Amino acid sequence: MKFFIDTANLEQIKEMQDLGIIDGVTTNPTLLSKEGAEPIEQLKKICEIVDGPVSAEVIGLKTEEMVKEARELAKIAPNIVIKIPMTKEGIKAVKILESEGIKTNVTLVFSQNQILIAAKVGASYISPFIGRLMDNGQDEIDMLWESMQIINAYDFKSEIIVASIRNARHVIEAAKMGAHIATIPFAVLEKMFVHPNTEKGLKAFLDDWEKLKNQLKS
Ligand code: E4P
Repeated sequence: MKFFIDTANLEQIKEMQDLGIIDGVTTNPTLLSKEGAEPIEQLKKICEIVDGPVSAEVIGLKTEEMVKEARELAKIAPNIVIKIPMTKEGIKAVKILESEGIKTNVTLVFSQNQILIAAKVGASYISPFIGRLMDNGQDEIDMLWESMQIINAYDFKSEIIVASIRNARHVIEAAKMGAHIATIPFAVLEKMFVHPNTEKGLKAFLDDWEKLKNQLKS
């Protein structure tokens, strides 16, 4: 399973890149606005840190606007992937961009039918937002399970990026279902490293080692 980090923050990306656990990055207009930097420059810097796919989202709502923006964003670096919203106009843009060799990530996906449509037009990546479904009181795990069944039942090239992850359990659920990728916020990645028994166990080992050394001395 590949891990992407869901952030536009350079320090967070660098830290997880240094740990060797991330394979790509997803950004969106909200994440970029949190950084307050010029977005193209910020995306350039992200692409200098990470070799894997870096998603950058278009703002236009019409197919022509999205395609124009995507062609410009694609010039930033060879690993840029264009995030396109799951609308009719967006789906037309996906078809055009994929035929030009520009990879797309269909975003704001909330249903199995939307997954099927995005896969049919040949999106490289599809991002179901499971956390926002959960926030809405919907069964995000069931949606993901059915989505993976659909993708695996046919020879679709699309990879599923499980997005809008709220907690470490979401990552386990995505992995259990064989989702290709999880895009994980920094705070959740940090939690995935930790277990209280690891710290407790380590402390006990070190204390016992110290005890042994003292016994041998006396
Ligand atoms: C995915 O590509 C999105 O950037 C992201 O996962 C959205 O998550 P949110 O619901 O926490 O904003």
